[in-house]
Amino acid sequence: MRLLVTGGAGFIGSAFVRLALRESWAARLVNLDKLTYAGNLENLVSIESDGRHRFVHGDICDAQLVLTLLEKEKPDAIVHFAAESHVDRSILGPAAFVETNVRGTFSLLEAARAARLPRFLHVSTDEVYGSIDEPHDADENYPLRASSPYSASKAGSDLLALSYWTTFKLPVTVTRASNNYGPCQFPEKLIPLMISNALEDKPLPIYGDGMQVRDWLYVDDHCRAIWAALTKGAPGEIYNVGGSRALPNRTVVEMILAATGKPRGLITTVADRPGHDRRYAITTEKLERATGWQALVPFEQGLAQTIQWYKDNPAWIARVRSGEYQSYYDRNYAGR
Ligand code: NAD
Ligand code: TYD
Repeated sequence: MRLLVTGGAGFIGSAFVRLALRESWAARLVNLDKLTYAGNLENLVSIESDGRHRFVHGDICDAQLVLTLLEKEKPDAIVHFAAESHVDRSILGPAAFVETNVRGTFSLLEAARAARLPRFLHVSTDEVYGSIDEPHDADENYPLRASSPYSASKAGSDLLALSYWTTFKLPVTVTRASNNYGPCQFPEKLIPLMISNALEDKPLPIYGDGMQVRDWLYVDDHCRAIWAALTKGAPGEIYNVGGSRALPNRTVVEMILAATGKPRGLITTVADRPGHDRRYAITTEKLERATGWQALVPFEQGLAQTIQWYKDNPAWIARVRSGEYQSYYDRNYAGR
């Protein structure tokens, strides 16, 4: 396939790009990324000499750029990862979330419609369902009850994307994944933040009582699910993608401390996140039935691999934590 990937210098997008080339899913892969604070070309060093890959530095909101790329490269599909992706940042400043996640997705959909693109895979999140009380799990028909500006902007973009199938018959498929973890994740999200702080004996800030539940999905399992949904899923359909490993945050942090040999005394309880979703839980039978996909990496194994990656890449951590990161960290944690 010829693919246009958006956001392929970020955490999940770069994992998808590496896998798509390694597994020869893509004969040609154009990677459009704005290189925000979360985009990092270091995530792509292993494939930088691969002639099938072309990196384009640009904004998905730039409608003319997107249309030109579609006309010139004639991809078979767009795999759309590009987004502002962090809940805490959406609380500190929601504007960029509406701009990229809603308007950026709109710009891609319009270009795809004009170019009569054969396939559009919109990467979304289970956070659009909001907090889910036990004992329920959300299937794809569960109501959208997004809590944060991040999840609301993703819910908006999901509906917009699906409307292009219903109204214009643009073949859009939506995936909604649970919390990802793995190498190259920016250390603002729970797991890489706790690993990188623990490795430097810094405090591990748990929001509130730490009993919020997340379902952890190893990033390569997510990428394989996206490929399965793109090649075996149906247009107009939504597929949940989960790791079937729901854990309270506190347990995850304790596992990281045990694996890094650091003391529990590093845990610091800080003020809770406003509007904090208590529990995410989804069913993934629809994707499994339609495509045969299954999550393959058990959490203990994926976490060990991830910790090892952060131990092996101190220069990567140091670089992404320089500059803007410190001011973000102060803004998010100083007053808590
Ligand atoms: P990330 O923040 O690590 O990377 C986002 C990438 O998008 C960066 O490379 C950034 O430079 C790029 N980008 C941002 N704005 C752009 C714009 N206007 N134009 C072009 N590129 C732009 O995000 P991630 O964690 O890799 O998430 C990727 C996608 O997966 C997002 O759509 C997110 O909503 C979704 N998702 C993430 C998770 C998770 O746990 N991280 C779970 C489910 C779904
Ligand atoms: P996060 O990785 O930001 O993902 P999301 O909010 O999209 O699920 O957070 C995962 C969980 O960890 C969430 O319940 C918030 C919590 N958390 C903390 O307790 N402390 C932190 O410093 C961070 C970043 C998150």
